[in-house]
Amino acid sequence: PRRDARRLLLRRRGPSAERQRATCCPPPSSAPAVDFTPPDAASLPLRTRPAAHSVTADYVAKFNAGIAAMKALPPDDPRSFSAQASVHCAYCDGSYSPEGFPGVELQVHNSWLFFPFHRCYLYFFERILGSLVGDPSFAMPFWNWDAPDGMRLPAMYADQSSQLYDPRRDGRHGTPKLIDLDYSGTEPRFTDKQQVDHNLRVMYRQMVSLSPTPSLFFGSAYRAGDDPNQGPGPLENVPHGPVHVWCGDPKQPAREDMGNFYSAGNDPLFYAHHANIDRMWSVWKGIDARRHTDLTDPDWLDASFLFYDETPQLVRIRVRDVLDTGSLRYQYQDVPLPWTAARP
Ligand code: C2O
Repeated sequence: PRRDARRLLLRRRGPSAERQRATCCPPPSSAPAVDFTPPDAASLPLRTRPAAHSVTADYVAKFNAGIAAMKALPPDDPRSFSAQASVHCAYCDGSYSPEGFPGVELQVHNSWLFFPFHRCYLYFFERILGSLVGDPSFAMPFWNWDAPDGMRLPAMYADQSSQLYDPRRDGRHGTPKLIDLDYSGTEPRFTDKQQVDHNLRVMYRQMVSLSPTPSLFFGSAYRAGDDPNQGPGPLENVPHGPVHVWCGDPKQPAREDMGNFYSAGNDPLFYAHHANIDRMWSVWKGIDARRHTDLTDPDWLDASFLFYDETPQLVRIRVRDVLDTGSLRYQYQDVPLPWTAARP
């Protein structure tokens, strides 16, 4: 029953599919898409994404200024915050069909597309942010919910005067409440110590016990023409889904913003949540370099997505372009992984 609750909440329950098709698609491009070329290492600094709970006031001010600049752009500018938020809605709520399969819904969740799609999404979001703050080394924060110090709503997102604030969240889950990484919609009755231990065990189970091989970690194969939702990998299932649900406002009809695909991108917290999901892909590879490798199936490697870059130019990027964060010129702040010792 816990699993069903989660699935249900993350299904399309917002406006009708017709309305979403009308409202989610990115602004049309007058120029054809260009193929992605990796940034030149000599000209682009390596960006280090910091843990959201550990950043300085200067960092928060700059990040705020970047989000404010995105929000100030008109919605038909693909770099605007609303257009960026709609990217998620468009790729997740049936706005697109796979090339060559009109009428078949394209869905980037619940399959092996989950990790690479969101990596690309954040990558272009971050480049846009960097260009708007005039600092190509600017890196977005990650919500370090897998470690005790990061298990609360990061302070910068809770500040009501901030661009990072979103009123459509669960009012019960502000600081000092600890997140429950397999939250199902019911408040757990744990002490803080029990909640931390529980979360660390959840992480161990999802990242280690349930993810011994690439095909288990990434989720089910999903090829052009397949029905969507072939099956998520363990991380996509938990904690990815529960963190969304924990954040969203239960007083809204579909737990907007974070608790529903169509609206999740409207909460700036979405990008920090997904940065940590993205970090988990790198961490998973790092904890067992021999067995934890990327998939080698060409249908995965050659799957591609369209995004606007900061210029804004429409770019076609393939999964094989994003396997190495170093070639995308970013990395994550090196923080402890306490759950690696939380073997059940
Ligand atoms: Cu595209 Cu967290 O979902």
